[in-house]
Amino acid sequence: MMLHPSAMIDLNTSTFILLLLFSLVFIFFFISKPTGKYGPKSYPLIGSLFSLLQNRHRFIQWTADIVNNSPTKTAIIHLPLGRVRVITANPTVVRHVLKSRFDLYPKGPRARNTLFDLLGDGIINIDGDGWKFQRQISIHEFSTKSLRNYVEHVVDAELNDRLLPILATSTTVLDFQDVLQRFAFDNICKIAFGYDPACLTPSMPDEIFAQAFDEAVMISTGRMRSSHPFIWKLKRFFNFGSEKRLRNSIKIVREFANKLIKEKTIELKRNQSLKSVDLLSRFLISGHSDERFITDMVINFILAGRDTTSAALTWFFWLLHNNPRVEKQILQEIKQKPETSVYDEVKDMVYTHASLCESMRLYPPVAIDAKEAATDERLPDNTFVKKGYPVTYHIYAMGRSEELWGPDWAEFRPERWLEQDMLGRWVFKPRDGYEYPVFQAGPRVCLGKEMAFLQMKRVVAGVLRRFKVVPAVEDGVEPVYVAYFTSVMEGGFPVRIEERDVSLKNVCETSSWRRYGPSSSSLFKPFFSSSHSIGDRSPPPPPSSTDLRRRRPPPPSRSPPPPP
Ligand code: HEM
Repeated sequence: MMLHPSAMIDLNTSTFILLLLFSLVFIFFFISKPTGKYGPKSYPLIGSLFSLLQNRHRFIQWTADIVNNSPTKTAIIHLPLGRVRVITANPTVVRHVLKSRFDLYPKGPRARNTLFDLLGDGIINIDGDGWKFQRQISIHEFSTKSLRNYVEHVVDAELNDRLLPILATSTTVLDFQDVLQRFAFDNICKIAFGYDPACLTPSMPDEIFAQAFDEAVMISTGRMRSSHPFIWKLKRFFNFGSEKRLRNSIKIVREFANKLIKEKTIELKRNQSLKSVDLLSRFLISGHSDERFITDMVINFILAGRDTTSAALTWFFWLLHNNPRVEKQILQEIKQKPETSVYDEVKDMVYTHASLCESMRLYPPVAIDAKEAATDERLPDNTFVKKGYPVTYHIYAMGRSEELWGPDWAEFRPERWLEQDMLGRWVFKPRDGYEYPVFQAGPRVCLGKEMAFLQMKRVVAGVLRRFKVVPAVEDGVEPVYVAYFTSVMEGGFPVRIEERDVSLKNVCETSSWRRYGPSSSSLFKPFFSSSHSIGDRSPPPPPSSTDLRRRRPPPPSRSPPPPP
């Protein structure tokens, strides 16, 4: 029997489709093999797309498990269309990338292009001579004593005039993460621009610059997570969706910065002897007049100093509540310190310093950071990297590595940072910067490290002296660590503020500590509806060694990594 020609075409088409499907299944499940040294299962063309999609909501925790279970502490993740990402938690490799072969591992064109619209040629987003130049002039600004004094004044004003009164009058549940972010944003704007956005006021205003900045950062980091850069580039080309919003928010941020720069320039011209100590004035006074350069510089500093300290403090207060022993030690230290000078008070708070380091070990404000290989090279652990590969050092994973911190790595134990001298006093015992790269390490180590510690210790002393910060979450539930550009506590940090007992309060009130007016809870927006509370989050992702989702039990056993 002869078949009709159209039936033959149909038959051919179906045969072709069947053959194609069969080949794909065969490729995926029979001849596929991992192409990396160690990492999740990878298939031709799509790489580890299945695992990536499965773990997209817990990328940091998932990759931390992978590298910490790798024999060399380095893993390779294959992304769709042949892109590759090397991730490491190996201190020798981290030293190699950040210091020994610093020249071979710049930020690279990929990261630079992704963040260029927001950060331009600012210090965070630039390599080579441009970076060196900005680093040199900024180091000078950071090392001056007057800047440190200024920070103390800025921080103290924000603490005494805004943060403490808000806590003192709070009778409802506060989102403490939001409060700390507002605190840090006011601080960094005053330091960078000499401008006070007054985000931390009782009405918790939605300040336009802060909102635009937030949106710009959020969408820019979204670009980094997109499955292929082509997607956001296409959206940018057509000025569509999130890219349209990004363009608008960057416009607001830049116009705002330009306006402030113009005003400051006029102000400085009018009054040459003006003693402005903000970063912007310093740049202008020292002869830098290129508006684009100064705008980039200031935006970069705001990004660097904005959510880092608030992230660190959010997790710190969470851990403190669950570790009353540590809180007691810190209170003791606060009581012993003089309050006459802010700087004297905080510079020697050794136990508090150790507690902050310990908290950032478990919950680093920056979870991962990447460089890009400038040439084909073999890493010290023998992993081969090709020119253009991003090499990511995994700060979060390193803080949870049993090899680096011992079997009790999951415990919040500030004493691991301390030793006692002959008189029984605590002495801080720093860790190698490549084992603990929370502030990065090497030539590009964070410029604001000292400033950040001063600010954080001042806040800790100011708040704890008078208040107890009590998480308003269901018992046994832990918040979730999510990392964008900086990390956040997913859904915020709902707390109730309780006044401390009279004895400690008396200690504080006899000194320079201030009093505030009567409570007026009606002034405050209730931050947290029950639908936002951490306890109500749903559905919880699967547990992992690095999630630390449930409180109390000893370090959970590591979940097996994806098969090699
Ligand atoms: C707890 C607080 C902080 C942490 C954990 C932290 C951490 C870091 C990290 C990991 C980097 C490297 C980022 C990268 O290269 O992409 C960095 C860079 C930087 N940080 Fe911080 N930071 C903190 C606070 C601050 C503050 C308050 C400032 C001051 C405004 C600041 C200024 C900078 C600058 C200017 C850089 C770029 C340095 C360079 O590339 O040469 N940081 N910081």
